[in-house]
Amino acid sequence: MSTSKTKENKYNIAVIPGDGIGSEVMEATISVLNNLDIDFDYTYGEAGDACLEKTGTALPQETIEIVRNADACLFGAAGETAADVIVKLRQEMKMFANLRPVKAYPNTNSLSDNIDFMIVRENTEGLYIADKEELTDEGAVAKRVITREAEERIIDYAFQYAKDNGKSKVTGVHKANVLKKSDGLFKEIFYEVGEQYPDIEKEDFYVDATAMYLITQPESFEVIVTTNLFGDILSDEGAGLVGGLGLIPSANIGNDGALFEPVHGSAPDIAGKGIANPIAMMLSAVMMLRYLGENESADRLDNAILTLLSEGKVLTGDLGGNATTKEVADEIIKLL
Ligand code: NAI
Ligand code: MG
Repeated sequence: MSTSKTKENKYNIAVIPGDGIGSEVMEATISVLNNLDIDFDYTYGEAGDACLEKTGTALPQETIEIVRNADACLFGAAGETAADVIVKLRQEMKMFANLRPVKAYPNTNSLSDNIDFMIVRENTEGLYIADKEELTDEGAVAKRVITREAEERIIDYAFQYAKDNGKSKVTGVHKANVLKKSDGLFKEIFYEVGEQYPDIEKEDFYVDATAMYLITQPESFEVIVTTNLFGDILSDEGAGLVGGLGLIPSANIGNDGALFEPVHGSAPDIAGKGIANPIAMMLSAVMMLRYLGENESADRLDNAILTLLSEGKVLTGDLGGNATTKEVADEIIKLL
């Protein structure tokens, strides 16, 4: 990932804990980050259901400004207002790339031990933009806009990601046999951009076939790049492949900012009990560290998480253990 606004090991981080277990996994993650040799300056912002109740808006302008002025943002989870918060933040910050790693960790319910790929999803256009939807006399129409600019940007991001991270192949996913014009264009751009990366293997699949290959040969993927809705669907399939929301991080990246969040929501069924798995949030922090160029600290934290999962002694309930959120954080700190 690219580095922006580096301030020699001192970073201003926007922290939005949000609702439910969002604040619990955030607290655990901040305690871990404070044990790395990096100077973080945290600015807390409010957003979500509780914020709506208190202030009348789920995403106050003040919070948007905190994110705008930060080097990166950590976001926990919102409840029912999630779309108003996270979709709006992505738009405000023009975060065009959604990164969803799919990686099998030990002692988890994954389909295979050797799954390790990244889904790079276009975040700004395509069949996922609600304002391109309208009611008509016949029913309703949703408009799927594919622009050369946005697709070149995301495809180039995917190839650059592959290059920077020692990946040897990028897979472009589309439905160009049916959507000949829009996905035809995506496929054309995929190979055009790919020419600038001669050392990286290129392949393209139809999205339906990809849905099957993810089950039958998940080990064969390294980087997948695709349009907005296909990426949304395939990334949840990816989460299913490696067993469980408590482990899946994500990143939203733009030229002027980046936001890191677990894929899970506020989990009202377990909120307030101190038993949420903080690992998805911690792995989101690992992604943030890499974005900031702090690869050594990222490796340290990633390895501590790997060791914790391999040992299998201090695990939360979703992974079959009985540890609390805080016990997991304390164990990670020991392993650092
Ligand atoms: P959810 O992800 O909150 O929970 C789904 C299931 O997974 C629950 O049984 C929960 O206990 C479990 N779970 C999730 N994260 C876990 C963790 N870290 N450790 C252990 N167990 C975990 O999704 P759900 O139930 O569909 O939505 C609950 C609320 O969250 C809703 O209000 C929804 O709008 C919001 N939401 C927010 C998101 C965001 O802020 N990005 C994303 C998804 C949902
Ligand atoms: Mg989704």
